[in-house]
Amino acid sequence: MRLGRWRCIGMRFLFLTLIAFACFESGTPVNGGWELSGHLALEEEEQCTVDRRANLTYAEFIHQYAFSRPVILQRLTNNSLFQDLCSKEKLLAEFGDFRIRLSTANTYSYQKVDLSFQEYVEQLLEPQDPKSLGNDTLYFFGDNNFTEWGGLFQHYSPPPFRLLGTKAAYSFGIAGVGSGVPFHWHGPGYSEVIFGRKRWFLYPPEKRPDFHPNKTTLTWLRDTYPALPITERPLQCTVQAGEVLYFPDRWWHATLNLDTSVFISTFLG
Ligand SMILES: *[C@@H]1O[C@H](CO)[C@@H](O)[C@H](O)[C@H]1NC(C)=O
Ligand SMILES: *[C@@H]1O[C@H](CO)[C@@H](O)[C@H](O)[C@H]1NC(C)=O
Ligand SMILES: *[C@@H]1O[C@H](CO)[C@@H](O)[C@H](O)[C@H]1NC(C)=O
Ligand SMILES: *[C@@H]1O[C@H](CO)[C@@H](O)[C@H](O)[C@H]1NC(C)=O
Ligand SMILES: *[C@@H]1O[C@H](CO)[C@@H](O)[C@H](O)[C@H]1NC(C)=O
Repeated sequence: MRLGRWRCIGMRFLFLTLIAFACFESGTPVNGGWELSGHLALEEEEQCTVDRRANLTYAEFIHQYAFSRPVILQRLTNNSLFQDLCSKEKLLAEFGDFRIRLSTANTYSYQKVDLSFQEYVEQLLEPQDPKSLGNDTLYFFGDNNFTEWGGLFQHYSPPPFRLLGTKAAYSFGIAGVGSGVPFHWHGPGYSEVIFGRKRWFLYPPEKRPDFHPNKTTLTWLRDTYPALPITERPLQCTVQAGEVLYFPDRWWHATLNLDTSVFISTFLG
């Protein structure tokens, strides 16, 4: 059953890619040239339970969210130039030969693997195999070389709302359809989607979710999530390109990339 469903997704995915090539051969490609999942393949949540706020002031952010709950911020910064530089074609041309460091996609990322950015994009950036474990799945997020990639990151405008006594640090990544990181927590920060869509699941610090640290978010969503009583469900929402999610200190969170996604986090350490 599962296998059949995934083959079908693969075909839809191919079909969409062909449409994308047919329609945008001479213009801007959809999703920066990064493959889409096809909307039927991975569904968004039924209802977003995270606040979405446009034009939020710094005072409102501090009083309503910074120390108490997550929020999705819209129109906070204009990263259209950065987005343009993150198209598949431009990143491959600029950074294809550089080596990047991948981490396994489990809760306590144990293993690291180095390979060229081009090898990653061409060989590993595939839809998540639903049968794979997180500790067997390689994920490109963080461990960035800021010397080599500095010319790109200088064009990123981070969220302007800072927390007193913290310093901002970037983590940049690109990951395939259905990939993600299972539940974990750390300090506060932001995650902006540049291309694609990223679904988030969040619990407050005192509510440790039930999860296996070596299983993927996709497996958790399929096996654990449906049996959760409504009151035990996480806060959740799908962050679209150009939106920024803020997560407060020590909130548990898991992520699922609904499309091939390009994303950047600003950690407030
Ligand atoms: C946010 O501000 C923009 C202009 O800066 C305005 O067009 C828009 O209506 C505002 N949105 C809300 C929800 O207030
Ligand atoms: C964002 O900036 C670009 C230039 O980098 C500009 O063309 C575009 O109109 C801006 N978009 C918004 C919504 O302000
Ligand atoms: C991944 O995790 C599973 C379950 O925790 C374990 O049985 C397996 O040996 C691990 N695989 C690798 C490659 O470490
Ligand atoms: C998860 O996998 C790692 C290695 O990949 C292994 O060392 C660890 O014991 C596993 N954890 C659990 C809870 O099975
Ligand atoms: C980052 O790249 C520079 C230039 O290629 C290299 O000298 C340096 O060792 C790299 N840093 C790390 C941490 O890999």
